[in-house]
Amino acid sequence: MIPEYFAFNLPTKIVYNHGLASRLGSELKDFGKRNALIITDKVIRKAGLLNKVLEGLQGSLINPIAIFDDVPPNSELKTVMEATELGKANNCTLIIALGGGSVMDTAKVANILLFKGGKIEDHMGAQLIKGRLHPMVFIPTTAGTGSEVTSFAMISDSKNDVKLPFTEDAVLPDLAILDPEMTLTMPPKITAATGMDALTHAIEAYVSSETNPVSEALSLHAIELINQNILQATANPDDVNARGAMLVASFMAGVSFNHAGVGIVHGISHALGGVYHIPHGLANSIILPFSIEHNMETSAARYARITEHLGFVNIKPTEELIKAVGVFNNDLLNNAVLQMTMIDEWLVEHKARTLAEKIRLLNRQLSFLSGHATNLKQAGISDGLAKLEQVVETAMTDGAMLYNPVEVTREKVRRIIQMAYNQDFPSIKVSSADLRAARSGVIVPKLKNIFSDTETMYDILGGFYNRMGEDAGLSGALLSSGLKVRFVYTNPDGYLTIDSSGTQVKVYRGKDGDHVNLDVEMTLSADLAHYFWHGLVNAVQALTRREITTKGNLPKAMALLPILTPAYDLYPKFLMERGLGKLVVR
Ligand SMILES: [Fe+2]
Repeated sequence: MIPEYFAFNLPTKIVYNHGLASRLGSELKDFGKRNALIITDKVIRKAGLLNKVLEGLQGSLINPIAIFDDVPPNSELKTVMEATELGKANNCTLIIALGGGSVMDTAKVANILLFKGGKIEDHMGAQLIKGRLHPMVFIPTTAGTGSEVTSFAMISDSKNDVKLPFTEDAVLPDLAILDPEMTLTMPPKITAATGMDALTHAIEAYVSSETNPVSEALSLHAIELINQNILQATANPDDVNARGAMLVASFMAGVSFNHAGVGIVHGISHALGGVYHIPHGLANSIILPFSIEHNMETSAARYARITEHLGFVNIKPTEELIKAVGVFNNDLLNNAVLQMTMIDEWLVEHKARTLAEKIRLLNRQLSFLSGHATNLKQAGISDGLAKLEQVVETAMTDGAMLYNPVEVTREKVRRIIQMAYNQDFPSIKVSSADLRAARSGVIVPKLKNIFSDTETMYDILGGFYNRMGEDAGLSGALLSSGLKVRFVYTNPDGYLTIDSSGTQVKVYRGKDGDHVNLDVEMTLSADLAHYFWHGLVNAVQALTRREITTKGNLPKAMALLPILTPAYDLYPKFLMERGLGKLVVR
C-alpha cells in the first residue's frame, strides 16, 4: 500500500569500489583546496587503514593537517569537544571520518560545533540547523551502522548513563566512500554484531509506522544481501565479495531507516547501551526476535513477506483455491472457500514466527563462528539485571519507540529484557553450504600505479602511440578518421596528443602538442589507459562511472573504437618487445 504522504531525499553521493580509499584524492577534487580534520580511532590507525587514506590524499588539494585518533567505541561528549578543538586550531573546513558508527557520529557532532560554535547542549534536539555545515566525507570501516547515510548521531553522556541523540539533515555527509577493502580488518565478533545491526535497521524500517515504498525496496534487498553474506563475512574475513555485499546492505538499510525510522529493538538497545554499555549491534541482535513476536498483531504479513524474500515457500492455499473457483463462477464453492481464509491467516503468522526463529538461528551460528553472545548475560550484564527499571525507563523515552507499529508499554519492555537476559541458546555449527556467499567469483587484484612517473608514462604510452602510427592497419584507420585527440592522464599527471589529420600519425608529449586544434580531449587515469589498451576496459561503462571524462566531439572518438581492436593485441606485444613483460595484464 502506498502511504498518503512520503518524501525521499538522499543528498549524500555514494561511491562503491574496491581500493577506493587509496585513490581518495581524485574523489575529493570538487571540494577544492581545504584543511581536513580526519577523525578515526587507534585500532584503525594500527590496522594501517589511516595510512591508506593519507596515501590516497597525496598530491591532492586536501591537506590532512589534523588527525584525531582517540574516538572510543562509544563516543562521549568529551571526545567530541576534543576533536572539535583540534579542527578549530587547524582551521579545518573539511571533515573526513574513517571508522565505524562511533567515529562517524563524533564527526557529525564535531562538525556542528566547528561550524556553529557554542556548547553541545546548545545543539541538542532535532532539525535545528538550517543550511549546510562543513563538507564531510565518510569512509565506513564496519558494515552495520549505515551512519554514512543517516542524519542521526548518538553521543554518550557517561555521567548520566544516557545516550544523547542528534537528528539533523545537515549532518548527512556529502560523500560516502564504500570500499570493502577498508572492512577486511574487522574482527569476526564485530562483523557479526554490526551486520546484525544492519539487519535490524532493515527489518525495523520495513515494518515501521512511517515506512514508504522506497525504504521498503531498500530494506528487502538489504535483508537478502545480509542473509546471504553475514556468515561468510564472519567466517572468512578476507572474502572481499562478502564484505562488499555487507557494506552495500548496511548503506541500503541505513537509507531505509533514515526515512522510515526504527522501532522497539533500537529503543531497548539504546537503553542497554546507555546503562550497561552493551555494544549496539549485539543488543539489537538479541532483542530483534522478540520484536517480531511483539509486533505480530499489526505486522505479521510484512514479516511473512520477509521470510518469502529469504527463500521460504510462498503458498497461500485458500488464495489459490479462490482463484481456481472463481473461474467456475460457483457461488456455493466461493462461499465455502472464503470461510477457509483463516488458513491463509494462520500461514502468514506461522511464516512471521519463522522469521523470529531464523534470526535466533543466525545468532547461534554467529556465536559458533565468533563467540557472538546470544543472551544479555553473556553480552555483559553481570549484576543480575539490577538496573532493569532504569533500562525500562530509559527505553520508554527513546525516540525510536515512536516508529514502532504497535504501541510499546513498560510491561512489555520489561518482559522482553527479562527473557533476553535469561534465554540460553547454545551455538550451532555452521556448514559449508551456509557459507556460500551470494556472489561467487574471485576479484583479481589489479596492478596499480603502473607508471612510476610522467617520463616513464610518456615513454611507454607515447611510444605505443607512435608504434600504432607505424602499424599499417591501425595507422590507416586513424588517418582516415582524421582524429585529433588528447589524452590527459592522472597519476602520474601528463598529456599526450595524437594528430591523425595529416598524411601520417603524429604523437606529441605534453606542451609540444598544444598547437593542435583538438576534436576531443579525454581525461583518465594512466592506469586505466594501461588496461584500456589491453582491451580490458568497457569505454561506455568507464564514461558512466566518470572514470573517463571528455570535452569536445566524443562521437568522433567513439566511432574509432571498433577499428582499434587490433591495438589490444599490439599493446601487450609492444610491452614485451620493450622488455616490460611484467606490466602485461594476463
Ligand atoms: Fe542501529
